[in-house]
Amino acid sequence: MRDEDCVDFLQWALPKLDKRWPGFRKVRGQVCKRIDRRLAELELAGGIDAYRDYLARHPDEWAVLDGFCRITISRFYRDRGVFEALAQHVLPDQIARLRERSGATLRIWSAGCASGEEPYTLRILWQQALAEAHPDVRLRIVATDAQAHMLERARRACYPSGTLAHLPDAWRAAAFEVRDVEGDDDHCLRPAYRTGITFRQQDLRTTMPDGPFALILCRNLAFTYFAEPLQRAVLDGLRARLTPGGVLVLGKHEELPAGRGFEVVDEHRRLYRRADGA
Ligand SMILES: C[S@@+](CC[C@H](N)C(=O)[O-])C[C@H]1O[C@@H](n2cnc3c(N)ncnc32)[C@H](O)[C@@H]1O
Repeated sequence: MRDEDCVDFLQWALPKLDKRWPGFRKVRGQVCKRIDRRLAELELAGGIDAYRDYLARHPDEWAVLDGFCRITISRFYRDRGVFEALAQHVLPDQIARLRERSGATLRIWSAGCASGEEPYTLRILWQQALAEAHPDVRLRIVATDAQAHMLERARRACYPSGTLAHLPDAWRAAAFEVRDVEGDDDHCLRPAYRTGITFRQQDLRTTMPDGPFALILCRNLAFTYFAEPLQRAVLDGLRARLTPGGVLVLGKHEELPAGRGFEVVDEHRRLYRRADGA
């Protein structure tokens, strides 16, 4: 299929899936390839126009197309400045707030966790930068993703070296062992760094874990790919699951929908605090 035909198709189809075209502009190649494969599989003569007809005649196909629109790129320590801010002030501040509430468990949610890169980065950061100073605090991370095969990879916790390239060297050496496994996924997270994380298959559009969380990361998912009304609904759900004063982290190129009960902690790093009493 020609690129312009795929663009035309996506601009027509994405709003019907509560998604927004601008989020897909740069990554459309992946989606177009999946659609191409589907056209071949369905043996549709007539290409993308025939697929539009097919969607009209087979409403269940919309769910298949929705699955093609899931972008899964991730890596450890993605956007270094965010993790530096978490280690240096966001999490110490959340621990202080936790103590004020006489709590002992710091709860974090990684929404759209891909193959575990983000929640495991948090777990490594905790061990390397914070655990020793806060022996009385227990870390619990809930990590959710819509796709079972991503969660399967997360539970396996073995990765190609490129995925770990941004982690500080000392952290990578401490947290991973190099194993002789099949394929390229030879850097496996040591068992000590896998504890305290629960992976769950959940579609953010319909289901969210019970809060409250001191920190929620929702990066490179809802606020890139979802249509604005859905973004606002998701944001309300995230806010309701934050402790008062809890922090929400968005992706580097994402914007918080306006006027939704948050104050800015660091606009550049996309850190927002739930406004107390709002
Ligand atoms: C681009 S990755 C981002 C991963 C990570 N948050 C990061 O920033 O590196 C988006 C992830 O969201 C997942 N996803 C897509 N749609 C979803 C949905 N409706 N509910 C939950 N997860 C979803 C995808 O399977 C994918 O693993």
